[in-house]
Amino acid sequence: MTGRYYLTTPIYYVNDAPHVGTAYTTIMADALARWHRLAGDETWFVTGTDEHGLKILRTAEENGLSPREWVDRTSQRFVQAWGALELTNDDFIRTTEERHYRSVQRFMQAIHDNDYLYKGTYEGWYCVSCEAYYLEEDLVGENLCPVHESPVEWFAEENWFFALSRFADRLIAWYDEHPEAIHPETRRNEALGILKGGLRDISITRTSIDWGVPVPWDPGHVFYVWYDALVNYISAVGYGTDNGRFEHWWPSVHHLIGKDIIRFHCVWWPAMCMAAGIDPPARYLVHGFLMVGGRKMAKTAYNQVDPVELANDVGNDVLRYYLIRDFPLGPDGDFTYEGLVERYNADLANNLGNLLQRVATVVEQKCGGIGRAPRPAAESPLAASAVEHVKTAYEAWGRFSPHEALEATWRIIRAANAELEAVAPWKIDPGPEVDGVLGDAIEALRIVAILASPVLPRASREIWARIGLSREVDAPGNADLSGSLAWGGYPGGAPVTKGPPLFPRRAAE
Ligand code: MSP
Repeated sequence: MTGRYYLTTPIYYVNDAPHVGTAYTTIMADALARWHRLAGDETWFVTGTDEHGLKILRTAEENGLSPREWVDRTSQRFVQAWGALELTNDDFIRTTEERHYRSVQRFMQAIHDNDYLYKGTYEGWYCVSCEAYYLEEDLVGENLCPVHESPVEWFAEENWFFALSRFADRLIAWYDEHPEAIHPETRRNEALGILKGGLRDISITRTSIDWGVPVPWDPGHVFYVWYDALVNYISAVGYGTDNGRFEHWWPSVHHLIGKDIIRFHCVWWPAMCMAAGIDPPARYLVHGFLMVGGRKMAKTAYNQVDPVELANDVGNDVLRYYLIRDFPLGPDGDFTYEGLVERYNADLANNLGNLLQRVATVVEQKCGGIGRAPRPAAESPLAASAVEHVKTAYEAWGRFSPHEALEATWRIIRAANAELEAVAPWKIDPGPEVDGVLGDAIEALRIVAILASPVLPRASREIWARIGLSREVDAPGNADLSGSLAWGGYPGGAPVTKGPPLFPRRAAE
């Protein structure tokens, strides 16, 4: 499957501190990026922060700081959180960087040169939290934003407009030709629904503030924050500043986004790309919301959980495992501490933790601490099903279905545990039968460590070391169906070490 894989997350507003909702997107992206490196793809994973706009300007003022000081400070919260969670992003883009300004100006100039921009006056209801205009009929209650339920403001400005309406048919045709572009299907239908409902032109500049990227051909105007933000996906790979690099990565990109920003990403953004004369992005992966007590986890709902605090308590791997195993790409899901502990005890403490502990204990008792080689596939009761589950897991990763990949991986663990229980090598004298069943169980652990490494990077490394293997478990290309993922790769003869339990059982607090 080796190829090129450029993966992005939304860039987060710096006003909000990272919470488990934004961490979910970024951790999911991290796991996908790790999988693609493991599968041998040339991978580039980018996240970052969205730092312009009225909302940020106002909070900077409220905090008595210049906007620049404010964003320098607040963007660090994201850099630090992703660092503490051990995420492997290759770049972190900030929209206040020079390289981004240059890309935005070149990109918008190209759209202007291609005659898709015109000047007009815009009047309407604006929600500063969304940084978006709303139609009268979209408002709720007494002129409240439908998302934040806070008052909208009436704005009237002379703006530059983007002729979005001219792109509806071209976009529909493009999505027809690229049925795989939006995953999952329900989200594709949502985007097509927006397109088929007809598109209005949109205002893309502001004169009321100067905290933004200046419009090169019209002093006094800055680009509207969403327009500048979307361009991060190309400024991060050198659009207008390093064309060789840009052409290397574009358009083979996967944009991982939440369902709240489908319109901006699946309608506005590809239209802008077409208008500027570049290909639209290849793929969108759209996920649902993490809910707490029936509401989306968000700053305004006062139900945020700090991901670093939680990870300090349960461990980075455990937070990753819960988020990726229990929240498939697509629907909303309920985030609860009890759910996390339940998942932890069932899959990590009982299944995986037990298998490792048992194998190490019995190898110590019966084999002098030296790991045995697995039986050949034709003679091993585990091999056939393991091969099948490996294939399922491998394909599920490729289909952006990591929760299914984990499910298949855990079937290997359960089969190995069942085989150990059936044979009970701890009750038998050392000999070929003990060697066979232990060799197979170690082989299962070896394969599981590779498959689980994008989600449990630390634990996989530990398992790898305890069964005496040296080459890194997450070495690029190590997920190879006919190579290291094939049955029989464990050499035997390596020392197996027994350590403290990897995942001690937890009580729900
Ligand atoms: N700055 C814009 C995005 C610009 S991208 C060119 C923005 N930022 S945001 O900080 O509000 O982050 C939005 C993204 O954060 C969502 O699309 C989603 O990926 C993630 N999430 C925020 N809250 C979330 C949940 N409660 N659950 C799941 N994801 C959540 O919009």
